[in-house]
Amino acid sequence: MPPRSWLFVPGDSEKKLGKAMSTGAHAVIVDLEDAVAPAAKPHARILARDWLAAHRHNLTESKPVARWVRINAFDTGMWQDDLATVMAGAPDGVMLPKCEGPEQLRQLAAEIYELEQRHRLANGSTRILPLVSETARSALTIPAYADAPMPRLAGLTWGAEDLSAVLGATRKRDADGAWTDAFRFIRAQCLLVAHARSVWAIDTLNDDFRNEAATKRAAEAARADGFTGMLAIHPSQVPIINAAFAPTEAELAEAKAILALFDENPDAGTLQYNGRMIDQPHLRMARQLLGSA
Ligand code: COA
Ligand code: MG
Repeated sequence: MPPRSWLFVPGDSEKKLGKAMSTGAHAVIVDLEDAVAPAAKPHARILARDWLAAHRHNLTESKPVARWVRINAFDTGMWQDDLATVMAGAPDGVMLPKCEGPEQLRQLAAEIYELEQRHRLANGSTRILPLVSETARSALTIPAYADAPMPRLAGLTWGAEDLSAVLGATRKRDADGAWTDAFRFIRAQCLLVAHARSVWAIDTLNDDFRNEAATKRAAEAARADGFTGMLAIHPSQVPIINAAFAPTEAELAEAKAILALFDENPDAGTLQYNGRMIDQPHLRMARQLLGSA
């Protein structure tokens, strides 16, 4: 099952790092980028490395929490120093912010390859997750990820905060709470390209984190639209996301009924179920749902 909840934790906060593993998050992303002030970056790298190392999976764990780290963007000149330190902690993956296309991912992968050798980590064990929407240019190049060879690519995700600053946009959502055009465009491309590559599609976070109803709405929309998971910034968002992505009893019952109906009618391509037409896509959806439960 793909990780559903992805919790950011500021890399310079020992207190929050100490809490991260007990939040129920499926994946924790230790942040070295925007959540950490420039002066705190060197210390945050060390804390991140030690946290990653302390929580390396032990093989008896049935559902290990994925340990990710967000490094600084390419144009900061900090990303190589970030990697040089944190790779000693053997992260499951590296998130690259402000990613401007497959070429940056290729360079990142080359650097990771060297560091995996140095730290005696299995070749290819470190995955990559780009944030593909944080500059206007990168938002226009999302389809380029569809075909570029990137064996480490785990998924695609996007963020609205940096882009709205770039655009000078004073709103991200309209009066009804729906994303405005630029963000809808990005979100849809992120979803489509991730599925085109069969990698995870991870929806962006709800920054209005005290508003649990808004997080619930966003998480339910993410799942309903086909995302495999969603970013979070506060522990209270984690159970909301996990619940929103879990199939409901009613959905499971319907999927079982659809499977049973096709089993009873092995020669039928299309059938009716509760007054609705069902055909092969419904059968595939039902199988997927039961497989993910
Ligand atoms: N991970 C782990 N623990 C967290 C956490 C996180 N992301 N966010 C909050 N906590 C902890 C707090 O330390 C606090 O612990 P305590 O009960 O032991 O005191 C508890 O959860 C409740 O936190 P709360 O007081 O409600 O939040 P806050 O005002 O301290 O912090 C934020 C609010 C937004 C600053 C904080 O949630 C945060 O740092 N989020 C991550 C930000 C980030 O990484 N951004 C980068 C990606 S956009
Ligand atoms: Mg940012």
